[in-house]
Amino acid sequence: MRHLIDIMDLSVREINELINTAMDIIEYPEKYCEVCRNKKLATLFYEPSTRTRLSFTSAMMELGGQVIGFDDANSSSVSKGETVQDTVRVVENFADIIAMRHHTEGAPLEASHVANVPIINAGDGSHAHPTQSLTDLLTIKREMGRLDHLTIGFCGDLKFGRTVHSLIQAMSRYEDIKIILIAPEELQLPERFKLKTPNLEMREVTTMEEVMPELDILYMTRVQQERFLDKEEFERVKDSFVLTLNKLEHAKPSMRILHPLPRVNEILPEVDDDPRAAYFRQVGNGKYIRMALIYQLLLWSKKNK
Ligand code: NCD
Repeated sequence: MRHLIDIMDLSVREINELINTAMDIIEYPEKYCEVCRNKKLATLFYEPSTRTRLSFTSAMMELGGQVIGFDDANSSSVSKGETVQDTVRVVENFADIIAMRHHTEGAPLEASHVANVPIINAGDGSHAHPTQSLTDLLTIKREMGRLDHLTIGFCGDLKFGRTVHSLIQAMSRYEDIKIILIAPEELQLPERFKLKTPNLEMREVTTMEEVMPELDILYMTRVQQERFLDKEEFERVKDSFVLTLNKLEHAKPSMRILHPLPRVNEILPEVDDDPRAAYFRQVGNGKYIRMALIYQLLLWSKKNK
């Protein structure tokens, strides 16, 4: 059975296959509108979400499939104390593939150990968010035409931001990638995500202005309020970095701004109309890459049966 728990579960060849499938879906949607007929996706969301859950739902619907699930664990048997593994053993009787978001790191991995259908990690704690990385990769490919030879600035909450952790891992496998980490002291990238691979250069800075001219991608993130134990610390760092049109003055015209969304106030709305702002286009890509993922995971799992 093939699962997607961590972006490293996919080979570079498979990632490229997913990106190519997504591009094909964008060009010829009618080819794919029945490929998941009679298939069901279950979305098990133990943590709030708008775009991830809706994009999974819309992706499955556009493939001709159906969707069941919950978006509030309190209204399911979880509130009676059911374990994640038991819930999955039950749900796999009703669905062909499961997308799970959980506040506990490792919950989707645990689920995959007992599952007889593919499990997709839709975000686990502050650990990983592989389908957001696939969305980001498709966006970078469509906006820049390449996934190599790029300088990417990650800005904001690099400590708790799971989308940052997964995308750094994903980028570590492409040629000539420079990563610049832009964060206040309290929100720096945890050591375990500071990868040491020869094709990846990493450095830390404290302002976005000092690196703006060299960036190909500026990846902005929200300060993850819900993961702070200390409310005062959150208040202190919440407005650390705010992107304004002024700050973009020295950026390359070809630079692209990504953000997994939701944003709070780290990008002012005045930036939205700048052609470099790619974050709303990025949301659309999330649907296409999830269509490709659901379709391919079902195919790969069938082959392995
Ligand atoms: C992100 C997440 O849930 O980690 N959102 C998303 O899935 N697009 C980012 C965030 O919540 O800040």
